[in-house]
Amino acid sequence: MPTHRVHFQPVDIDIDVNEDETVLNAAFRQGVSLTHGCREGQCSACKSFLLDGDIEMEKYSTFALPEYESEEGYVLLCRCHAYSDLEVELINYDEDIIRLGIPIESYRTIVEAIEPLTRDIKRLVLKLAEPGKKMRFNAGQYTSLRIPGSEEYRAYSMANTPRSSDRLEFIIKVFPGGLFSGLLEGGITVGQEMEAKGPYGLQAP
Ligand code: FES
Repeated sequence: MPTHRVHFQPVDIDIDVNEDETVLNAAFRQGVSLTHGCREGQCSACKSFLLDGDIEMEKYSTFALPEYESEEGYVLLCRCHAYSDLEVELINYDEDIIRLGIPIESYRTIVEAIEPLTRDIKRLVLKLAEPGKKMRFNAGQYTSLRIPGSEEYRAYSMANTPRSSDRLEFIIKVFPGGLFSGLLEGGITVGQEMEAKGPYGLQAP
């Protein structure tokens, strides 16, 4: 898979991007904490200006990036694939945290517990499957949990103590028919494997 170099101005940070990943995901993977929100081209939090290079964008909402802005050169980094080296000017960024990013990784986990806390709220505990493996994260960050049997993910904030852990705990409200939360009523069982990707969300300075 061809790889390209992306240089972010004015922070003077370089990352490598494969053509099959978005620029935002490549930055996450390399511990560069870019400002983001929905990661689905809906909110415009990742909007930046393309100074140079060839890109293609996945589908996005024109509320997040109106046509006239796209014609001027604005892009959504969460939808953007690089097909050459890029020069990108960041619009929203925090100089104090951009370099403090914890690289985002995909973790294999095992469901350790699913407990009812109230009639419609469950506590889900996942243990990282690889011995000795831990996920570092900060308060307020979240993880994307893959819906078993699908390519879709749902995001939940960690409810356990931050920093570094071989366990991830979540407090999840169950919505009837919810693609992930609905499975907590018997569709997911203790001992089952599950993929967790993270940590996402801005990091504490
Ligand atoms: S993060 Fe929301 S549009 Fe990119």
